Amino acid sequence: SKINLKDYQKPSFDVETVSLDIKLFEDHAQVDSTLKMVRQSAGDIVLFGEDLELLALSMNGEALSAERYELSAGKLTISDAPDEVTLALQVRICPQTNTALEGFYMAGSGDETMFVTQCEPEGFRKITFYPDRPDVLAIFTTRLEADKRYPTLLANGNLVEAGEMIDAPNRHYAIWHDPTNKPSYLFACVVADLDVLADSYTTSEGREVLLEVYAKSADIDKCTVGMQALKDSMQWDEVNYGRAYDLDRYMIVAVSQFNMGAMENKGLNIFNTACVLSSPETTTDTRSFSVKAIIAHEYFHNWTGNRITCRDWFQLCLKEGFTVYRDQSFSADQQSSAVQRIDDVATLRAHQFAEDAGPLAHPVRPESFVEINNFYTTTVYEKGAEIVRMIANTLGADDFRKGTDEYFRRYDGQAVTVEDFLSALSITNGKVEDFIDWYRQPGTPVVSGHQDYDSATQTLTITLSQQTRHVSGFDAPKPLPIPVATALFDKESGKIIAESMLLLDQATQTFTFEGVSAEPVVSLLRDFSAPVQLNYDYQDEDLAFLLKHETNGFNRWQVTQMLVNRILLPTQGTKSNPDVYLAALAQTLPVLAGEDAMLAARLLDIPSAQELAAAIPEDYDPEVVKAQREGLYQQLAEALKDQWEMLYKQLPLHSYEDSAEARGERALRNVVLDMALSANVEGAVEWAQQQYDNASCMTERFGALKAMVNHQVANADAYLADFYQRFQADDLVIDLWFSVQASADNVNADVIKSLLAHEDFDWNTPNRVRSVISAFTSQPTALWTQQGLDIYTDVIKKLDDSNPMIASRLLQVLARWNTLAEPRRQMAHSQLLDVQQQVSSKHVHESLSSVLGAVT
Ligand code: ARG
Ligand code: ZN
Repeated sequence: SKINLKDYQKPSFDVETVSLDIKLFEDHAQVDSTLKMVRQSAGDIVLFGEDLELLALSMNGEALSAERYELSAGKLTISDAPDEVTLALQVRICPQTNTALEGFYMAGSGDETMFVTQCEPEGFRKITFYPDRPDVLAIFTTRLEADKRYPTLLANGNLVEAGEMIDAPNRHYAIWHDPTNKPSYLFACVVADLDVLADSYTTSEGREVLLEVYAKSADIDKCTVGMQALKDSMQWDEVNYGRAYDLDRYMIVAVSQFNMGAMENKGLNIFNTACVLSSPETTTDTRSFSVKAIIAHEYFHNWTGNRITCRDWFQLCLKEGFTVYRDQSFSADQQSSAVQRIDDVATLRAHQFAEDAGPLAHPVRPESFVEINNFYTTTVYEKGAEIVRMIANTLGADDFRKGTDEYFRRYDGQAVTVEDFLSALSITNGKVEDFIDWYRQPGTPVVSGHQDYDSATQTLTITLSQQTRHVSGFDAPKPLPIPVATALFDKESGKIIAESMLLLDQATQTFTFEGVSAEPVVSLLRDFSAPVQLNYDYQDEDLAFLLKHETNGFNRWQVTQMLVNRILLPTQGTKSNPDVYLAALAQTLPVLAGEDAMLAARLLDIPSAQELAAAIPEDYDPEVVKAQREGLYQQLAEALKDQWEMLYKQLPLHSYEDSAEARGERALRNVVLDMALSANVEGAVEWAQQQYDNASCMTERFGALKAMVNHQVANADAYLADFYQRFQADDLVIDLWFSVQASADNVNADVIKSLLAHEDFDWNTPNRVRSVISAFTSQPTALWTQQGLDIYTDVIKKLDDSNPMIASRLLQVLARWNTLAEPRRQMAHSQLLDVQQQVSSKHVHESLSSVLGAVT
């Protein structure tokens, strides 16, 4: 059933304190809880519970018989409760068979079995009956008891006591107390046998904090990158937001089975191993960089999420959008900020724009949902971050900081809304409350424009207009405030003659620049100042000019992407001449390679097949897009053929170094290697083999392997086999081994079938499932076939029961079936209808009905 934002009601009872006693046994766990509750307003006590066996229930010391409460549809309701209540509950749960990885669950197998929690958003109700909603804040005390086979017993807060069980010599316990008032979704506990990497950090307030990263012993040497990132994040938040850490202990636990990336539980983050472990030998630079970003993200949640939390799950973007913006800013301080912006915008365009263009389009703050897990989307996270960025840029650094200081001052310890956030940010002169419409309106605005120059009056007029598609089920779209960062470039000197932040907040507007002595080239949307699609009537030569003269590295990348899009998607407006694009790159690359290798590597980006598909509204033929895309890649490789050898030789392999320059060189070397193989440069196959054999790190080794696999180099299979042998014991590297095959340019359904049948494939490990199935979606020509869809939908049907959250996410990737050209469209449609008949989770049903509902 649907839940609506407009129906929000405060809880009738608050919880002051909770005591949990979790006893883990061989095949189940017993959870005893005591809740001290106080009435806030008239109404029942409502506790949520799922998959629980209720063993006992008492109120104020008196056992409640079955007629004193109602238990149905996941709710335990007690009417006529007094104003002050102590509830005592006993339930039995079964973490050992919990494959949904939500609530308290078992991960790993054999010697490496461990037990962890994932409670956000509504997993706590799978641990015990509780008012499991983010606006109920309480103080938690947690006792854990388990076999000594699991020496690691962790929960939120501070360790109060630990000891042995006198009557059961093989068992022990630990008691943790968290002084923070927190919602149940931030609860966590861990029962495991783990090693720990410890360090400390002294906050700006003088608090000495114990920092601990827990992992299985084989992984503990891969925790140093994460530990350093944690210390960097702690300092960054002090410097940039004036926020210091507030407990004496901060723990991170690595777990191999986890649905998402990581979770910001108070003082006890739980991380997918893929998002915390990193070493040069086993982790690519890209992955290692995202480890740092995710550590920062979860740390930053301590203030934006934990100390100030969400009133209800509709406000998810309040914590996620702001926190993503914060982690993006942190990352931008750790590398070239242009490259960081390129990465963030590329992700936004590839995924969020696609979501906004299809049947799953929803506002950054949704207004209704069936299953909140379906709304942990790129729209909520990444578009949410873009809104905060626009607000920050509109206010300017000083006023934004004053605004965030006010936000923390006003709402610390509370559960609040997006409106509260905007109101705090509006305390200075810059009023940003108008940005609320960005949270309410789905769809990506398209900004179109042109310029007129009048030499007589020396006036340049820029006309911009905005249009957003009308998403059915929502109000007709209205104009949004769109900041358009603009610079005018003098054609003669290539220098900037004027810079300005234009605010487009009407359907159409003109902006006039006086005293402009010759028609300039206009650079718009600099640094991607708003999450919009831009159609400006550029000449190819203007774009080539900007590639050369733009001082903003992001915009140099953006013009290459505009050129590529205008070549590959001629239906989308002006068609570009590929020769202009090729000539501009040929000129830029050799110079830039020496100045900023990372940016140089990115300028060769050609959008993925999925990203291109997202811009095609109908009759999408994957074969055509693939051919066009590969054709342009081939043209590029051949046009710059003379450069590849020179560039590759300029970037010799040497011992591993972890600096921005070294990372840039590795990225460029991998791109150049791939280009050289495409262009059949003499000796390129040997370069690849030598790079693989002599690699100093995973970026080099995997780059070479991927290039060899995609170019079907003669002995690519031998290299794949070698890779497997070398890294057999390392799950995260074996994930790479699966994914490089599942996403290979020539992959087909048979390859996927054999990967799924491999002895190392594991249905209960989301990382492994994704390494095959999500990797496969990068090849739409193979996915959108009868066989490809059979495999893909079988996976969804299989996971529907065991892990509906993952099943639903995989289903969402098929959202744009409706844009396919026949006969694929019909084929996909009947396949989806067939899935609908065979699944039962509300997760998948909700996604399916959106995805199917879009039939026109
Ligand atoms: N709050 C976590 C993060 O952004 C994500 C948790 C999502 N979990 C889920 N089951 N949907 O860092
Ligand atoms: Zn988050």
